[in-house]
Amino acid sequence: MSEQEKRGGGRTALDVLLHEDRIFDPPPEFASRANVRDASVYEEAEDYEAFWARWAEQLDWIQPWTDVLDWKPPHAQWFIGGKLNACFNCVDRHLEGSRRHKAAILWEGEPGDRRSFTYFELHEEVSRFANVLKSLGVGRGDRVAIYLPMIPEAAFAMLACARIGAPHSVVFGGFSPDSLADRINDAEAKVLITGDGGYRRGGVVALKDNADRAVERCPTIDHVVVVARDGEPGLVEVTMKEGRDHWYHDLAPDASTECEVEAMDAEDTLYILYTSGTTGKPKGVVHTTGGYMTQVYATTQVVFDLKEDDVYWCTADVGWVTGHSYIVYGPLANGATVLMYEGAPDFPDQGRFWKICDEYGVSVFYTAPTAIRAFMRWGRDWPDRHDLTSLRLLGTVGEPINPEAWIWYHEVIGGERCPIIDTWWQTETGGIMITPLPGITATRPGSACRAFPGIEVTLLDDAGEEVSAGYLAIPRPWPSMLRTIWRDEDRYRKTYWSKWPGVYFAGDGAKVDEDGYLWVLGRVDDVLNVAGHRIGTMEVESALVDHDAVAEAAVVGRHDEIKGQAIASFVTVKDGVAPTKELGAELQAHVADRIGPIARPADVIFAADLPKTRSGKIMRRLLKDIAEGHAIGDTTTLADPAVVERLRMQYEEDES
Ligand code: WTA
Repeated sequence: MSEQEKRGGGRTALDVLLHEDRIFDPPPEFASRANVRDASVYEEAEDYEAFWARWAEQLDWIQPWTDVLDWKPPHAQWFIGGKLNACFNCVDRHLEGSRRHKAAILWEGEPGDRRSFTYFELHEEVSRFANVLKSLGVGRGDRVAIYLPMIPEAAFAMLACARIGAPHSVVFGGFSPDSLADRINDAEAKVLITGDGGYRRGGVVALKDNADRAVERCPTIDHVVVVARDGEPGLVEVTMKEGRDHWYHDLAPDASTECEVEAMDAEDTLYILYTSGTTGKPKGVVHTTGGYMTQVYATTQVVFDLKEDDVYWCTADVGWVTGHSYIVYGPLANGATVLMYEGAPDFPDQGRFWKICDEYGVSVFYTAPTAIRAFMRWGRDWPDRHDLTSLRLLGTVGEPINPEAWIWYHEVIGGERCPIIDTWWQTETGGIMITPLPGITATRPGSACRAFPGIEVTLLDDAGEEVSAGYLAIPRPWPSMLRTIWRDEDRYRKTYWSKWPGVYFAGDGAKVDEDGYLWVLGRVDDVLNVAGHRIGTMEVESALVDHDAVAEAAVVGRHDEIKGQAIASFVTVKDGVAPTKELGAELQAHVADRIGPIARPADVIFAADLPKTRSGKIMRRLLKDIAEGHAIGDTTTLADPAVVERLRMQYEEDES
């Protein structure tokens, strides 16, 4: 196989998708019992305000709203005047009747330890956590940063914040101290909730150490609450700073298990979640309460066809939006039994996920294409060793799924009996936007199918004309849309609303086929999608030039068999610095250290020059051609066209 073929250079994702004509009707058995069986739901949702209001009515409100929507582009307000509490909707309202002693969270640690919580117990845990936060001075409107492993306390902490009206900002446990500090400082969080550590692939990830290094730079943090993963210290050595740091298990026994919920305005901030954009600085996406809860509640129920006795497992980390909407708020608002797993899919062996599905009788399973491709590589022997017949619906999210992975998921994991639900959405959209409906839609491998009822999406060109292949755009507001970028209204307007007036620009490219099916092709901006994680090229570039040896850096994404994309970086070094293999490794480690291991570049290519236009702009498009092994595009605007050829030869040499 040539280098070019290996990198998927010859055949693009688009070519593959365009030739996909297999259709899978909803399994009749499934369709006859689905929560939504009648395609008229799309027509019924044409009056989208009334449609969403019907869903909102299924939540518990402290005070009803007066108007459904106020849309003054780019600002939408939903359920105006209404008051509710997200935590109440996820916990307290299930305490009456049969859900009281139903399992809310089933948790399995990587070493195999287990904990579970009924809704009754969840109420106690969350209320206690809320009282601990209150005792540390956290009140309505104060921001709380959460930097925890995948342990039940991550969900408790989020819900506790929601209960007392303190917006949370969850930071993925894989992020570096610098990344954590930047996020804490931007949100001006008062309290940080972290843990001593958690298990990952047999080792212990020591979080407190990272947290300490971050908090040194965070003047707004008054207190750090440290959750001991094992309920008591001992997992890893941690240093506690007198007066600032508190073990959660020291504070908890004094805290009451009763805590009133705050009556929040529908438009009060529920949380801030940082995500990568096209500049070096992550954006604090702001979600509010009423609309967000309405859409995650509705989509969880409809898209996953949630039933009372389902065991629902979403494999995301709570540090990402998928964890917020589809581990915590959506499923718990529906009174579901949610499985949470702490660790890696290949520990102690590559059958771990299937062992979990088998043992817990998981019926609804939601994961990412990158994981599915890894399972494919590990082989079907692993799933085949387990009884997976409890599964009835399989979901996917985070990146385009290639038809081959889709088919494998359908056949090997789903036994050809489970609908495959490919869901498109973003941190900014808060909830699922494009998806098949499991009881209705005939699915096509690689297509997210069509907009959820009540949602409208369209494809536009630069001029704002409707096209069959172009930019994914959302022409009207939806309940769980982001409301702004935290303290950066200007960036909110520029990023999402400046391409076409009053129309949301998603940053993805897509096409629609003759039958109206949508095929999302990936980002059209400088945002990479590595293993389903969003990473800004600018973030990686600033981390690289932050190293003493580096003069200039340019980062592009290239195709990767498993991760979808991998990071290729082109670097020029300062005078007198030798571009050695060792330096390359050092730069990779430097980026991982600065941002987090997910941002580590797969390739570091040292270049004498980077291809630039005569005005000095780096031509990333050409670097992408080189990294992907494509034919090099137009170089006529380059100051020195020979640079590209030299780089290409060098890249191929470095690869071999
Ligand atoms: C991509 C994750 C194709 C897309 C929920 C989007 C997808 C970005 C899909 C958002 C899908 C997500 N098919 N691409 N089903 N789902 N994406 O904010 O590029 O982490 O813009 O939210 O992931 O990533 P984010």
